Amino acid sequence: MQHDYAFSLPQPDAISAAHSDRCADYIRARIQDAGGSISFAEFMHYALYAPGLGYYSAGARKFGADGDFVTAPEISPLFGRVVAKQCAPVLQEVEAASVLEFGAGSGGLALEMLRTLQELDALPAEYRILEVSADLRERQQRLLRDALPRYAERLVWLDRIPDSHRGVVIANEVLDALPVERFLRRKNGVNQLRVANEGGEFVFVDEPGPELLVRAVESIERDIGGALPENYVSEVSLAVPAWLGDVAGMLERGLMLLFDYGVSRREYYAADRSEGWLRCHFRHRAHSDPLILPGIQDLTAWVDFTAVAEAAADNGLQVLGYLSQSQFLLAGGIEAELQDFAEMPIESQLQTAAQVKMLTLPGEMGENVKCICLARGNISGPTAFVSADRTHTL
Ligand SMILES: C[S@@+](CC[C@H](N)C(=O)[O-])C[C@H]1O[C@@H](n2cnc3c(N)ncnc32)[C@H](O)[C@@H]1O
Repeated sequence: MQHDYAFSLPQPDAISAAHSDRCADYIRARIQDAGGSISFAEFMHYALYAPGLGYYSAGARKFGADGDFVTAPEISPLFGRVVAKQCAPVLQEVEAASVLEFGAGSGGLALEMLRTLQELDALPAEYRILEVSADLRERQQRLLRDALPRYAERLVWLDRIPDSHRGVVIANEVLDALPVERFLRRKNGVNQLRVANEGGEFVFVDEPGPELLVRAVESIERDIGGALPENYVSEVSLAVPAWLGDVAGMLERGLMLLFDYGVSRREYYAADRSEGWLRCHFRHRAHSDPLILPGIQDLTAWVDFTAVAEAAADNGLQVLGYLSQSQFLLAGGIEAELQDFAEMPIESQLQTAAQVKMLTLPGEMGENVKCICLARGNISGPTAFVSADRTHTL
């Protein structure tokens, strides 16, 4: 079977193509073990995280110009500076406060946060990182230990969620990298989209969904006030509430800042959004065929932020605010970071202006990425959420 996108995407080089073939062999073996098909969530898990083969587990470049996509901390240090300034008061207020960053990517956000927190005299007791990718963990260690040797003792890489944490939890584009279930609304039920192997190619098949998925879709339908249209395809993340439960369980006092591509539940399951929110990235081309290029393309699914707010409430956290990335950066003081703009050399001015545009313009990251702030205990929330909160839309 020919895939629609194969024509418009750049050809992978021979090494990447061979790597993808090995990842595909691995997934075909899992499909065979499972008796002919696996859920899409399992497919996404293997394509991203199969040991030594998945996109995040293996050595693909991932971020930056030679990679497949860019994220806010990779675009500009201004992102990390604003986040650090918004977190400084709670780090100063909470006794023995630390930062815990999930999925720290190249380590760029940690680097900028630590530099800025030092300026503000708000260094955390520890800067903890929990990273599932061994490749990225090594990259983070190289970057941070070289750039910030004097903080070596404060930098801690964790293998699992700790029993307790005080201070700040941060995750940028991590929730959208957690595997999602895909479903198909049939007239008389909810089917699960599964992945099968047809003559060596991966194809979608569907069958009546397991109870957990059916219940999740029915609960969404109750919330939005009616059944989804027949043949409607979308995603549900069963992993996000589970992750949030685990993280909330360890947070004794402090706040969580979660940034991700996402929308409210009503927008997520709008009738005209009948093919879901899955996006694939290969060499800076976005497309929507998740079954090609396993192990060498990124797979993400936008986040239902209503589900995040619900899971937070179920776990005793307060929602302090919900904003677009652009609102967060503007209300959080990005302008103050540009005070010496007029004195910069012209090349730096152009570069900085382009970075600010990428971070804040609507139509791109500025509006598509949202930030939700969750908290436990009596703490001063980040000031960015005071002027422009959109929690009522969730
Ligand atoms: C899209 S990248 C974002 C990286 C980085 N935060 C940034 O903004 O550049 C997703 C990151 O989440 C990590 N990740 C995925 N699932 C995770 C989990 N359950 N716990 C911790 N990290 C995870 C990946 O390995 C990767 O580092």
